[in-house]
Amino acid sequence: MNIITSVKDQQVYCKKLLDNQKNISLIPTMGNLHLGHESLFKASLDDEIRISSVFINPLQFNDKNDYSNYPKSLDRDIEILKLHNIDCLFLPDEKDILSYRLDIRDYKLPEFSNVLCGKYRKKHFQGVFKIVKKLFEIIQPSKAYFGKKDYQQLLLVKYLVSKFFDSRIDIVACETKREKNGLAMSSRNNQLSNRYKDIASMVYSELCQLKVLMKIDKNLFPKYRDKLIKKLVDNNIRVEYLEILSRKNLSELIDDTGQYNIFIAFYVNNIRLIDNLEI
Ligand code: PAJ
Repeated sequence: MNIITSVKDQQVYCKKLLDNQKNISLIPTMGNLHLGHESLFKASLDDEIRISSVFINPLQFNDKNDYSNYPKSLDRDIEILKLHNIDCLFLPDEKDILSYRLDIRDYKLPEFSNVLCGKYRKKHFQGVFKIVKKLFEIIQPSKAYFGKKDYQQLLLVKYLVSKFFDSRIDIVACETKREKNGLAMSSRNNQLSNRYKDIASMVYSELCQLKVLMKIDKNLFPKYRDKLIKKLVDNNIRVEYLEILSRKNLSELIDDTGQYNIFIAFYVNNIRLIDNLEI
């Protein structure tokens, strides 16, 4: 596996491939790889050239402590990438990638980036948008893989591709990989003891029950929402948001014709986790 740390070298590497009519797939990550990331590598198995990136993007963290405490395991990550036969790891030097200039005149993000996580994590999606745009410009993939666990991010990346890349990058959306107890896999789970992981898994089982009720009548959501938030608080889970929004554009629940997801962000022992479930 090639490991490339300079933007220039990565551009040269990709240009050579593109000149040889190769198709490049990209799987961007922030490292500390787990089975959720690995499901993206597996999904891309049949693609021609697979490049993964590992970069903890400071632009998308609104809390300095959260950024500095973000778990790192580069040696292990490299072993995992090799196991999945990834052709190239882009491990950009921080200064190099941050100083790479984007050619964007219109920085305004779509309305849907102001709800859910966008409401509580100011500038988060600006940061995601910038780094993913840089990666797409440098690597020029024809396919890129993203997880549905970060559903709002997935929608933003789709918007980025339609607005700035002429819809030329095929965005592959991968299902959320979960622990046996239902907890969505996340690099942040490493910061939780087993007891707290069990507590966090309660959210998924509660969301599954809520989903059944919502299939019957979504209008009852406000009533069940309040009850559920109280139940979670009683179990030391602080809910940041719990919403049902359109899966297409995160607009409000209006009628029963559309397709909806339940979205949640919550804190367990001060660790912030997110999840979502299709109704
Ligand atoms: P990171 O949290 O490392 O996630 C990298 C990719 O793995 C994302 O597309 C994410 O949705 C997916 N993923 C994480 N946990 C998953 C799970 N349990 N099941 C399925 N997919 C999962 O998301 C980011 O990094 C960053 O914001 C990034 C896109 C790399 C930009 O910095």
